[in-house]
Amino acid sequence: MSARNEGCVNNMELVRDLAALREKVDTIRQQGKEIGFVPTMGFLHEGHLSLIRTARAQNAFVVVSIFVNPLQFGAGEDYEEYPRDLEQDSLLAGEAGCDLIFYPAVRNFYPPGYATFVEVQGSLTEGLCGAARPGHFRGVTTVLVKLFNLVTPHRTYFGQKDAQQCLVVKKMLKDLNYNIQFNIMPTVREPDGLAMSSRNKYLTPPQRANAPVLYQSLQQVEVLIRNGERDGEAVKDTMRSNIASVPGTEIDYIEIMDVDELKPISRLAGSFLIALAVRFGSTRLIDNIIMEV
Ligand code: PAJ
Repeated sequence: MSARNEGCVNNMELVRDLAALREKVDTIRQQGKEIGFVPTMGFLHEGHLSLIRTARAQNAFVVVSIFVNPLQFGAGEDYEEYPRDLEQDSLLAGEAGCDLIFYPAVRNFYPPGYATFVEVQGSLTEGLCGAARPGHFRGVTTVLVKLFNLVTPHRTYFGQKDAQQCLVVKKMLKDLNYNIQFNIMPTVREPDGLAMSSRNKYLTPPQRANAPVLYQSLQQVEVLIRNGERDGEAVKDTMRSNIASVPGTEIDYIEIMDVDELKPISRLAGSFLIALAVRFGSTRLIDNIIMEV
């Protein structure tokens, strides 16, 4: 282990220093090993772990980054409160097959004077979470370009839970000619259907009890569509009234978009994304399904 590395838990390395990371991945590549990479903001749960396990199965070396990226949080969002637990994350990631955790310090990752940003423009970033969180995807693509350049992975793994993020990152990789295989993995859910999220921790017990309504509303309209409903407005109305019947909810958006460009569609045909964001107090939860008819 290099002197600049911070530690080693169960043969898994914890690396904070950017140069030490480079040195390590250069060695791995020189050995002819393929690198799988799972970028995260930590506070790992089964959703993250499913990505790490898949990376483990498909690559000789697995890197997980844990970095709460200030650039993707808007003013007044939860950057400060975002849950952090590196010790627990190290144990979980190690068990799931991670070889190296990269957890850079903000001041080293974005040193004073940092001035370069990467942005996917157009419909992919304008709607859904892009409309509700201006600058969010610019922060996501900027951090990921830097992480991809540092980690130099062969494959990377993302969750469908953040469907818009997947489409934006896939587009960025294509536009910038990255030679990284992009993998989208299914959303992992709690037994009652709530999509796992580090932010579920913010929910009060009554909010937590009501939160499965997001997925229930998606499942309900999935049945309607399978039974022949093709009117997007009717589908959205059904979801809206379903969610509005639950006390303490505030709908941020309910949208049906095509999966190529993320443009709204009103007549359901081909492959489409049904996505929603709902606030429970100050906690904003998202979920989605992709369907084909
Ligand atoms: P984070 O929210 O920590 O998520 C890291 C990865 O785990 C993302 O690809 C996300 O889609 C996936 N994930 C989260 N919950 C999931 C679930 N229930 N099932 C399956 N996958 C799930 O997304 C980010 O961090 C950041 O924006 C990041 C890409 C790291 C850039 O900062």
